[in-house]
Amino acid sequence: MTAPTRPAVHVTRRLPDRVEAALDATFDRAPEPSGADGLVTVPTDVVDASFLDAAGPRLRVVAQFGVGYDNVDVAAASERGIVVANTPDVLTAAVAELTLGLVLALLRRIAEGDRLIRRGGAWELAPTFMLGRGLAGRTLGVVGWGRIGREVGRLAEAYGMRVVWTRRSGGGVPLDELLREADVVSVHTPLTEETRHLIAARELALMRPYAVLVNTSRGPVVDEAALVAALREGRLGGAALDVFEREPEVPAELVALENVVLTPHVGSATVEAREAMGMLCVDALRAVLLEGRRPANALD
Ligand code: 8YV
Repeated sequence: MTAPTRPAVHVTRRLPDRVEAALDATFDRAPEPSGADGLVTVPTDVVDASFLDAAGPRLRVVAQFGVGYDNVDVAAASERGIVVANTPDVLTAAVAELTLGLVLALLRRIAEGDRLIRRGGAWELAPTFMLGRGLAGRTLGVVGWGRIGREVGRLAEAYGMRVVWTRRSGGGVPLDELLREADVVSVHTPLTEETRHLIAARELALMRPYAVLVNTSRGPVVDEAALVAALREGRLGGAALDVFEREPEVPAELVALENVVLTPHVGSATVEAREAMGMLCVDALRAVLLEGRRPANALD
């Protein structure tokens, strides 16, 4: 008797070992998206109608390894009877922690000090040397009051910051008011047609001259060229960016500025978060391919 065939899944990137093992315990592997019953994708994969058609008629579920899913045409998937699920909640703490880390690195000039020491630069303890700005007593403006934005607000309050927030569905303060008031503006919106270049030249011009911009959401929410211009002209205090408009490209002008902190899209990059994200993907594949039910994080 031949063993019953197991559904075949294709994973576009290597996943944490524990997740790879969980997949192997349940599924066969498809070496390519074509012919797969299920896929695990990441935000840099373009999962549009032509990709789904090329994957073929067996495809029933796309598990997106990430909370953001602007790379996935969910409507095109639904039309083809394909379920899409993402990985919310389990990365909220990780992204919020990185955001606070970036605020600290920028305001307290941590990355700049590290660069100075590594290049053998001269320094000595002095009352006016390398003064930064404290977090306590400053105002944080959170753009996008969802799971991650709220957690950033909670952590910032523990540092003594005053938190104001805005969201497109209403509540909080209007975006323009937030931009005029905040010392630190931190962006936590998903990327949609409405939020593309939400922070552009006009919005940057509303910010206080010493205010800083932090982005751990999606690069295109900020007009990068306008940000570069504002920073080069000294109209902003600085920026901390984990995401970019054309990843992995980072504009040379940003790299050249001392008051800019740059990280390579590592918001969710903790062992805990990445394993939990992977296990949610495995759950979604199992739900659709083995249990005939909609997964917990199915998107419409
Ligand atoms: C990526 C992210 O998914 O969750 C998101 O939306 O952008 C990240 O967590 C992660 O880097 C894996 O590619």
